[in-house]
Amino acid sequence: MPQLENEHLMHVNQIEPTSEYQKNHPSSPILKNFEEYKTLYNESIENPTEFYGRIARKELDWIKDFDVTKYPLTGFNTSWFLNGEINASYNCVDRHAFKNPDKPAIVYEADEPGEGRIVTYGELLAEVSQLAQVLTELGVKKGDTVAVYLPMIPEAIATILAIVRIGAVHSVVFAGFSSGSLRDRINDADSRVVITTDESKRGGKSIETKKIVDEALKECPNVRNVIVVKRTGNKSVPFIEGRDVWYHEELPKYKTYTPPVPVNSEDTLFLLYTSGSTGKPKGIQHTTAGYLLNALLTTKYTFDVNQQDVFFTAGDIGWITGHTYVVYGPLAVGATTVVFEGTPAYPNFSRYWEIVDKYKVTQFYVAPTALRLLKRAGDHFIEKYDLSSLRVLGSVGEPIAAEVWEWYYEKIGRGRCTIQDTYWQTENGSHLIAPLAGITPMKPGSASLPFFGINPAIVDPVSGQELKGNNVEGVLCIKASWPSMTRSIWKDYSRYLDTYFNPYPGYFFTGDGGARDSDGFYWVLGRVDDVVNVSGHRLSTAEIEAAILENPNVAENAVVGFADELTGQAVAAFVSLKRKDLSEDQISLAKKELTQTVRKEIGPFAAPKLVLIVDDLPKTRSGKIMRRILRKVLAHEEDQLGDISTLSNPEAVTQIISSVQATR
Ligand code: WT7
Repeated sequence: MPQLENEHLMHVNQIEPTSEYQKNHPSSPILKNFEEYKTLYNESIENPTEFYGRIARKELDWIKDFDVTKYPLTGFNTSWFLNGEINASYNCVDRHAFKNPDKPAIVYEADEPGEGRIVTYGELLAEVSQLAQVLTELGVKKGDTVAVYLPMIPEAIATILAIVRIGAVHSVVFAGFSSGSLRDRINDADSRVVITTDESKRGGKSIETKKIVDEALKECPNVRNVIVVKRTGNKSVPFIEGRDVWYHEELPKYKTYTPPVPVNSEDTLFLLYTSGSTGKPKGIQHTTAGYLLNALLTTKYTFDVNQQDVFFTAGDIGWITGHTYVVYGPLAVGATTVVFEGTPAYPNFSRYWEIVDKYKVTQFYVAPTALRLLKRAGDHFIEKYDLSSLRVLGSVGEPIAAEVWEWYYEKIGRGRCTIQDTYWQTENGSHLIAPLAGITPMKPGSASLPFFGINPAIVDPVSGQELKGNNVEGVLCIKASWPSMTRSIWKDYSRYLDTYFNPYPGYFFTGDGGARDSDGFYWVLGRVDDVVNVSGHRLSTAEIEAAILENPNVAENAVVGFADELTGQAVAAFVSLKRKDLSEDQISLAKKELTQTVRKEIGPFAAPKLVLIVDDLPKTRSGKIMRRILRKVLAHEEDQLGDISTLSNPEAVTQIISSVQATR
């Protein structure tokens, strides 16, 4: 039996979903049992055409039926549901509004407790229709991209769906990104219209959202119009006549129904920028039918969501989790989605549980970083809330440690809920590996088994050969295309091939290490490229390095991730300055400035937790910075650096060790 490097992780027992799960179910779980999953899974792999053809016709409403389910049948250059015509907003809104106009589509919980409102499917259809006409009037056409820079308010969902209603493409930029990042994304996507808000509220603070947009637009010559949602009504917010229009003034000019524009299955639904191993963010491109189908299927099967359910994904629409599990998944199913504007800590650490209690949430989905925070805050923040409506608890974005898993299971789920540790990425659109609620046995720390149609492979990183059988560890790849797989990087198809398909020919490369244990369960072992994961936010070290280099005092720098109790990973920057004769005070000023530079260039969430000023960075004789050494030193593994005598400057390592030790 092969010895796995990470075997220590995998010695946990399977936990069977309790019979109470089935007992407490208001109707009946979507699948009967684990056997049914296995049968359907096998069919999805052996006969994807039959499986997906049937399920796409059953689950989605088509304007025109597709001719071919999958073409070509092999390889990754695959399109799905060819020649079909569909509209995503119709599937997320109209079809439910027609049957049940008064049913809540969105439960909006504002930053301030007690504020917020409910938007029914009927109201959502009216708002989406009106905004769709505003966009058309502003010259937005099928295929155009529209930038969205909005906080978590119902208008954000209406905006996304109005854009796709007219066949345009949304490019949502997380409202925590700086003006510089927003500018780059607007220009790369060539968006001519931006939708934003006067200000945002988060954790009791106001954020000057519109000012950030105005700053970005100084260098976006092609933007014609900005639609502004009035969130706070602060009179001092700048408004540029002719360019800016108010959301609340424009919508009432238009009728409350406009028909959806048919788009081809393979027409682009949206772009979402994400970080890769190089400095430039990638515009991940998703297409309409395949993405929508898998958003719906994973919501339904992984989380066992049906139309009576209230699904609370505590993630932002600025990331893929928000796209798929705040907007498209729950609305395509016809459930109620919770849109929460605030933070888990405001006004205190009970906020999530208060929301669960208030709205009788049935599925709750969050990143482990929030769970670590709440676990640390203490269980008295949970105890007074009635959490008995919950059936399913989800985890996403980073590995969940066994002790956090157990806390979630016991304290939040009270032993009655199942836990869905869902592994996936911006590029995949929806879950790749995840246990199905009430069906799949759980193992704390393992994302368990693949979703329908996903055929994972553990590949030897050196030989590129697939490692067959159980008890294998390598890099995690996927063997065949699935409907919600990204089809391209915006305007850069060759980078798409280079990033995902050329590293291991014949496979989609996830960028993560992975293992399959003795029961065939999958374990995700973290990124094998230069991507760090801070609080579930994906950051590229190269991008942060480029930002730091914008500071005129910097000669060179290297950024790496290191373990952090709360945020999972944190960012450390090792910087050498041009001038070496600075005083202590000047150095501490320089450090502050560097952190500011990153906040300004990327956004506050990317700011390094640790900045170390060093004379020199360790390099090979050919001048390559040895980031591996920096990572080892930060991990307290300075005794495992290996032979450093071949470096061009081994003395740099000594200084780095002592400067890191001085911070402990
Ligand atoms: C990266 C993708 C998927 C939505 C949020 C993040 C890591 C994601 C898990 C998990 C261990 C996970 C991977 C992946 N990741 N889910 N359940 N267990 N790691 O999307 O920003 O595209 O990041 O997040 O490293 O590659 P993303």
